[in-house]
Amino acid sequence: QRRITVRDLAAAKERGEKWPMLTAYDAMTASVFDEAGIPVLLVGDSAGNCHLGYDSTVPVTMEQMAMMSAAVVRGTRRAMVVADLPFGSYQEGPVQALRNATRLVKEAGAGAVKLEGGERSLAQTELLVQSGIPVMSHLGLTPQSVNALGGYYVQGRGEEAAHRLLRDAKAAQDAGAFALVMEMVPAELAAEVTRSLSIPTIGIGAGPDCDAQVLVWTDMAGMTSGRMPRFVKQYARLRETLGDAAREFAQDVVGSAFPAEEHTFH
Ligand code: KIV
Ligand code: NA
Repeated sequence: QRRITVRDLAAAKERGEKWPMLTAYDAMTASVFDEAGIPVLLVGDSAGNCHLGYDSTVPVTMEQMAMMSAAVVRGTRRAMVVADLPFGSYQEGPVQALRNATRLVKEAGAGAVKLEGGERSLAQTELLVQSGIPVMSHLGLTPQSVNALGGYYVQGRGEEAAHRLLRDAKAAQDAGAFALVMEMVPAELAAEVTRSLSIPTIGIGAGPDCDAQVLVWTDMAGMTSGRMPRFVKQYARLRETLGDAAREFAQDVVGSAFPAEEHTFH
């Protein structure tokens, strides 16, 4: 059984077929999504918030991304594994980007990398693509720039911002990106970008007209604590389920109900 490739995703856009993407940060979770038929798994630097306990994606390192990416690759057979280039691993320029992307592909076994920015990451995208590394772009809300953006807000509102996003999207496509994530962008603008591009667009908080949709898995499964952003739909209540299991286990131990005879060696 072969893995999903960039050609499969291009063909899906051609046929007008939508597809799902989820994040994954470890082998076991990734194997669940792979078995569920999710075609593309993103080892997102959202791991900073959702897996590693930071309060943004900014502190995530290459070592962490390489370790998680390798685990997700090991846990899957069919999914394309896309690894985020973390903050500071490509901003210096194309050569730095190539060095770090090469690590994620060669060492960790990722099938593609993702980086944030359109025109500002043009030279990086071009060199990676020329070197044979598929690149996914990421526009709209780009969390690695949270300190410059001043928070997690909808991007691309107003004519000028919309024009800039459309220009960035075309720049990413022209540089050779095989797909484009749009995060927290008005639905009308995301639809226009999707129509204007020949590569698939992947929305998160970008309305229903993107070619694909992505969610952070801990949000999707109700594992994340606290208030969810408006664009999240929770398909399970894992945090509650897991907490209940832990409380029940604790009760059993305290009350000597576990281990029972069937769990015991003699
Ligand atoms: O890191 C991440 O999870 C992402 C997605 C939200 C697209 O970049
Ligand atoms: Na990310």
